[in-house]
Amino acid sequence: MKATQLMAILSSTSFFVACSSDNSETLMDNPPVLGQVTYTQNVKAIIDNNCISCHAAVPRNGAPMPLVTYEQVQNAVQNRGLLNRISLSNGNSLLMPQGGPRLPQATIDIIIKWNQDGLLK
Ligand code: HEC
Repeated sequence: MKATQLMAILSSTSFFVACSSDNSETLMDNPPVLGQVTYTQNVKAIIDNNCISCHAAVPRNGAPMPLVTYEQVQNAVQNRGLLNRISLSNGNSLLMPQGGPRLPQATIDIIIKWNQDGLLK
């Protein structure tokens, strides 16, 4: 009987955990952009919130370059693999933001769309 109760508790706990992580995925902090994505309107805030603690004008914590201006972020997409680095899995040591967690997929999708739309300023 005790084992059965334990199983019931365990499975209800993991059900709860699965539910709450589903919820956090549907709670998109960045809704999809319907028109064209621009740096000024859509991308800058994402980089400011997630990257410039290290990629500051004077980079910190070993970051190799700033991500403060349009030109710097555009260059990082074109020449430094920015899209690849934010798209890696949690736990991958190359994932950005460094140390994770991975950005919500909806946020990553905005930066991917920015590239597809032509890296507009
Ligand atoms: C906690 C500090 C930290 C944060 C936050 C951070 N980075 Fe980094 N970033 C680093 C460090 C350190 C490196 C160099 C080591 C490496 O390449 O993994 C790096 C390297 C990179 C590189 C590769 C540069 C190159 O030329 O090889 C890119 C692109 C990058 N970061 C983008 C981002 C983006 C985009 C964000 C936000 C989504 C971000 N980083 C957030 C610390 C950080």
